Parts: sequence; structure tokens; C-alpha cells
Amino acid sequence: MVKFNAAGCSQFVSDTRYKEYLSKAVRALDVVEKESGEGNDFLGWKHIPSQMTEDILSGCEAVRDSWKAKGVDIVVVIGIGGSYLGAKCAIEALSHSFASEIRKDGDAPRVVFAGHNLSEEYICELMDFVQNGNVACVVISKSGTTTEPAVAFRIMKQFIEKKYGKKEAAERIVAVTDKARGALKSLSTQEGYRTFVIEDNVGGRYSVLTPVGLLPICLAGFDIRAMIAGALEAEKQCESTSVEENPALQYAAMRNLLYDEGKKTEILVSFTPKLQYLGEWWKQLYGESEGKDLKGIFPASVVFTTDLHSMGQYIQQGERTLMETVVTVKNSNRSMIIESDAQNLDGLNFLAGKHVEHCNAMAQLGTKLAHIDGGVPQLEVSIERLCEKELGGIFYFFEKACGISGYMLGVNPFNQPGVEAYKKNMFALLDKPGYEEQSKEIRKRL
Ligand code: PA5
Repeated sequence: MVKFNAAGCSQFVSDTRYKEYLSKAVRALDVVEKESGEGNDFLGWKHIPSQMTEDILSGCEAVRDSWKAKGVDIVVVIGIGGSYLGAKCAIEALSHSFASEIRKDGDAPRVVFAGHNLSEEYICELMDFVQNGNVACVVISKSGTTTEPAVAFRIMKQFIEKKYGKKEAAERIVAVTDKARGALKSLSTQEGYRTFVIEDNVGGRYSVLTPVGLLPICLAGFDIRAMIAGALEAEKQCESTSVEENPALQYAAMRNLLYDEGKKTEILVSFTPKLQYLGEWWKQLYGESEGKDLKGIFPASVVFTTDLHSMGQYIQQGERTLMETVVTVKNSNRSMIIESDAQNLDGLNFLAGKHVEHCNAMAQLGTKLAHIDGGVPQLEVSIERLCEKELGGIFYFFEKACGISGYMLGVNPFNQPGVEAYKKNMFALLDKPGYEEQSKEIRKRL
């Protein structure tokens, strides 16, 4: 279960101010619950856990089983932004760190990602990798028109059709997209692909608990039912109007208070490399939801202790506009004790008999105290361990807190008008039909 701890902020803000912001958070929660704020047509994510259907869960499992029966060993998942980061985050967090290197027959297929960039080298290397594999593909795009995944999918579709023939290709490609609109939807209907729907009222960055995230996570061999069970627990926890019981209220209140006190950058910190992509997913969620109308906390992320040796200096002594939100995983899934060494040439016998994770915990505590001393408030979000259930919980927690926090800030947390600017320029520069005027205008600027 997700817990929030604000003790590391007590030197920076008064109790009275925190209580004031908690009351503001309760009012913002009311706007989310009553669906009375801007962007209220994008609140479909709120009840995804409690309204999850057996059709969706068993539909994902059916794709997994049918591809297993074909011996599929590589699944290419194509998508970008909200159609990529949630699945990438969960798969990284749940997989063995060396999964590719120690793979055995019978293991779940390797899930690799494409369509999240336009690098020619990346796509060529992906094609090198899939060349001799038993390949299937999931293409994910809510709009069905995003350029990056569309380009990757054209290449992957042609490869799969060439390798297996058109009929078999239709069994090896699944699309996750809008129920009626977009090029991907019409293409899927035409080609007879199995499809999963992204509902109109769920924005990309709030879609990890829909088939957008669930299907790739299931294909990678993880338990999506447990993930939804964890999210359901968080859904209940985060609808409470009690500031003691609802961690989303506490987190939203404290980060907004600190922002108003001049802490303009929030760094999401974890002490396990498996959570690197939690930072990436969270950055999209908060950056895209809050960074607008010339406002918003800038979201950054680091993995400690690794980045203490690169970013640690700045965090300790650079510009004092930072706050840190540390995601603590209370229990390690594995155990390794540091043994005593008769010669003790490395001088490490003071650690003999201790778990490596104990050293990690002491590094975390030491960092917390150092950063607080250095002027960086510490917010803490904790989960019990890295597993499907806890991840489902933390996904839902951050989504709910983001909705509350965005309304506290005074923005619409569910739109992303700024994302269009680069696309318009790119289409003009690529001479996309319909952009003739913009093409002429943009070339004058070059
Ligand atoms: O959160 C969002 O809406 C975006 O990040 C989208 O997920 C991203 O741009 C991909 O869009 P689509 O799923 O329509 O291809």
C-alpha cells in the first residue's frame, strides 16, 4: 500500500501552512470527484480499477497464450509518450536486471519498444535484432496518427508480412487505439487485426492501467490482475476526503506548498535502478499535466546512489530551487549478505554480516539528512516491495495526486496543447499534404 511521509519537509514549511494547503487539496479533490473542473471529459482513468472488465484482462491473456502457442519470442511494442512509458516502466521494474542475458526456453517473450523516437540507427538495429526471431507486434496509438509510431509500424508491418505472409501477419499484430477514429483504427479494420480500445475519456499519460499498459505487461509475463488489485486498493485510499488517510492529498498539498515557497523543480528519486523508468513515466505525467500557462513544477528524476556521483553535487549545493520526492521500496525481493574476509585488504569488514540493502538504506538515510541540511526538502512515497500489486498502487496514486495537484495549481491537468507546436513545424518541414502554407513560411525562417 502506498504511504506518504512529509517529515523531511518540516524544516521548510510550517504546520499551519501545510494544513492550509491540505484544505486546498481537499477542495481540488472535490473538483476531481464531482468532475466540475476544466478537462472533466478526461477523467475516465479515475475508476479504471473498480470498473475493470474481465473482457480486458482475459483479452490480454488470450493474446499472450495464442502467441505463446506460436512460439513467439520477441514482441515489438510500438508507441510513444503515454502509449509507451507506463508499460516500459512496469516491465523494467518487474524484470530480472539481466533478463536478456539469462533467458531460458519457455520464458515469456522479450518485449522491446519502438516508435518512441525517429532515430534511423535505432530502427535499423531493431530490425537486426528481430531478423531471426519469432516475432509479433503490438502497435499502440490513441489518436492513430502519431508520426513516430506510424513510421515504426509501417516498417515492422512490412517485415512481418514479408516473413509470415499477410494472413499470418494479421494474427501477429494487435492494435490498441481509438474505438472509431484514426488511421490505425481504419488500417486495423481493413487488415483484420485484433484491437483493444483506448476510451475517449482517458488521456495517454493516464492510460497505463488500460490495455495500453496492461497488454505489453501481460505479454512480458507479469500478473495484470495483481496490478489492478493494487490499483483498486489505491483508488479506494485516494478517494477519501480525510487528509490523514489519503496520501494523494498529502503529496499534492506539500508539493504545491513547496512550489509556492520557491521550489520550482521536483526530482523523483529512487534507490533502485529498476525504477529508472518510473521517473520517466512520472515526468510525463506531471510535466504534461502541469507545465502550462507559464506555470508548473519542472519534473526531473535520478537514480541513487548512481546519480549521487553525478548529480549529487548540484543537489547538495547548487541553486536552492529543488525539492526531492523519494520513492522508497521497503523490502528487497532478493538477499545478499556481505561476507567477512580474512585479509580485509579492502577494509570492508565493518560491513561483514550486513545485507547490501542495509547499506542502500543507510545511503538513503544519509542522503536525506545531507540534502535537508543543504536546503532540499524531502517528500517520501513508499511501497512495500517491487511487485505488480504495489506498482498498480503507485501508478494510481500518482495519477490521482496529479489531477488534484493540477487543479490546485490552477491549470487543466488533462490537456497538452503545447505538444502540437513541434509537430506543426515538423509536418511543414516534411512537406506533409495540407501544410503547404506553413512549409513556405517556415522555410523563410531557415
Ligand atoms: O499523454 C499524451 O496524450 C501523449 O503523450 C500521447 O500519449 C502521445 O503523444 C502518443 O499519442 P498517441 O497515443 O495518440 O499516439
